[in-house]
Amino acid sequence: MKTIRVINGPNLNMLGVREPDIYGKTDYKSLCEMMENYAKVSDINIQIMQSNHEGDLVDWIQESYKVIDGIVINPGAYTHTSIAILDAAKAVGIPMVEVHISDVDSREEFRQVSYIRKACIKTISGHGINGYLEAIDFLLQHLNN
Ligand code: DQA
Repeated sequence: MKTIRVINGPNLNMLGVREPDIYGKTDYKSLCEMMENYAKVSDINIQIMQSNHEGDLVDWIQESYKVIDGIVINPGAYTHTSIAILDAAKAVGIPMVEVHISDVDSREEFRQVSYIRKACIKTISGHGINGYLEAIDFLLQHLNN
């Protein structure tokens, strides 16, 4: 059975509260439940984590080495700043899909820069929280080929 790790960065725990016009009204707990249910029907193991601290994301990517089959990552604002997270992703070489709830490429200029994208096999942006399920699907297809 495949194991997928979902890593969420800063402020994603505030879903439902933070700028609902941009990020939607679903809260973080419901997002986690949605992914857990999807994992059950897809017959995979899922590990979902969230932190507001850059080093936690680096640690979780490093710890994935040789134990996790694929990673879905939404680094939040660290997408646009973190070379450390990119380097961790490159170091472990695990298939990774970048997800953004909002369409970062049509927002402010600073959001149009993504460091993590250089280490990802796909980016899903602007599909709301459904993007997480699309990312899981994409990873599973990739891993089963
Ligand atoms: C985000 C987009 C980022 O620019 C922002 O800093 C976030 C969320 C998204 O999911 O749309 O925190 O990654």
